[in-house]
Amino acid sequence: MALDPGLALTPPMGFNTWNRFAGNIDQNLIEQTMDTMANQGWRELGYIYLNIDDGWMAPQRDDQGRFVPDPVRFPGGIRRLADRAHSLGLKLGIYSCCGYKTCMGLPASYNHERIDAETFAEWGVDYLKQDWCHVPYEEFPGKSHREVAEILYGRISDAIASTGHAMVLSMCNWGDGEPWLWGAKVAHLWRTTSDIADVFSQKPTNGTWDLVSIFRKNSRLAAYAGPGHFNDPDMLEVGNGGMSVEEYQSHFALWCIMAAPLLIGADMRDMAPEIRAILANTDLIAVNQDRLGIQAEVVDEHDDLFTLVKPLSNGDRAVALFNASDSAQSVTLNWNSLAPRKRQAKDLWSGKVETLSGTSTLSLPAHETRIWRVM
Ligand code: GLA
Repeated sequence: MALDPGLALTPPMGFNTWNRFAGNIDQNLIEQTMDTMANQGWRELGYIYLNIDDGWMAPQRDDQGRFVPDPVRFPGGIRRLADRAHSLGLKLGIYSCCGYKTCMGLPASYNHERIDAETFAEWGVDYLKQDWCHVPYEEFPGKSHREVAEILYGRISDAIASTGHAMVLSMCNWGDGEPWLWGAKVAHLWRTTSDIADVFSQKPTNGTWDLVSIFRKNSRLAAYAGPGHFNDPDMLEVGNGGMSVEEYQSHFALWCIMAAPLLIGADMRDMAPEIRAILANTDLIAVNQDRLGIQAEVVDEHDDLFTLVKPLSNGDRAVALFNASDSAQSVTLNWNSLAPRKRQAKDLWSGKVETLSGTSTLSLPAHETRIWRVM
C-alpha cells in the first residue's frame, strides 16, 4: 500500500500547537485558532492545517483499545473539531508516536498502528505527525536505529494507506537514521533535526537546537526534497518572543526558500502586526509554495554568510543572502550569474523592483536576510 500521492505536493502550511502551548491545549484553543485562521485571511494565504500536537489524548485507551480524547480538555472529541475545520475550509491534523508512549508519556501507536489509523480516518483527520519517543528497540535485536525506524514508520504508513482516507504523514524522528534517504517511501515529510528553540544562534542547553544550527544541517539536504516529499526543519518560532523581528524575518525567509513546511507556532489569536506582516508576506509564500517544490541550494558560503538559490516554475529564481554572523558584512553580488535572464529583481521585503547589471555591493547587518525574486 502506498500513501496518497496527491498530498503535500507543496510544503504543508498551517498552525501547530507545540511551540507556543506545549501540553496546555484544549478544545477552546483549537476552536478559537480555527476561527482566527478562517476569519482573518490566513486560510486564503494558504495556512489551512490546524495541527494538534502532543497532549490531546486521555491517559488510557478504551475497552476496545481505541484512543480516547482527554475528557476534560477535549470533551467534544476530535471528530467534532475535524467537522468544524472542514466546514471552515480548513484541515485537521493530529499527533501520535511510533513508541509505547508519546514524548509526554501518553498512549501511543506501537502495536496499535491499525486501530489508530482507522480511528483517525473515522474522525476525518487529514494529517498525522508521528513522533519517535519510547521506541522499543529491544524488540528488534540486531537491527540498526534506521532499520527500526523504517519498520515502524512503514507500519503506520501502511495502516493509513489501507484506510483509503487521504492523510498527510509527517515523520518526526529528528533526522536519526537519515530519513531523507528513505522517508519518501513511507511519508510526505520528515524532520531533519532535533527540536527548534526560539533562539537565533546561542546553543540551548536542553537538547533543542538554535535556528542557525538547524539551518546549517537542513540546507545541505536540498537534493532530497520535492513535491510530496519534503525535509522538515521543524515548526516556526516566528512571534514567540525569543528573537528580534529581523531574526524572525530571516527564519521565515529561510524556511520559505528551503521549501520547508510553514507551520505557525505562535498564538494566532493574539499576534502583533509586525509578526503578521512576516507570516503573511505573499511573495515569500509564493516562493515556498512554488509547484516545482525545489529546496534552495547553498551556492556560496564563507564567513557565515550564505547565498541560496531556488529555481521557480516560471523560470524566475529566488535568491537569498543570509548573514548568520554576529557582525555586519559587506557583500558583492554578481547579477550576471544570479539573474542571467532579464536582470530584474524584486526585493521580497520592500517589494521594490530593481534593474541589475554587473556587480553590486551591499552591507548586510548581523543576523539579517535579503531575499529577491530575480526575473
Ligand atoms: C517531540 C517532537 C516535538 C513535539 C514533542 C511533543 O519532542 O519532536 O515536535 O511533538 O515531542 O511531546
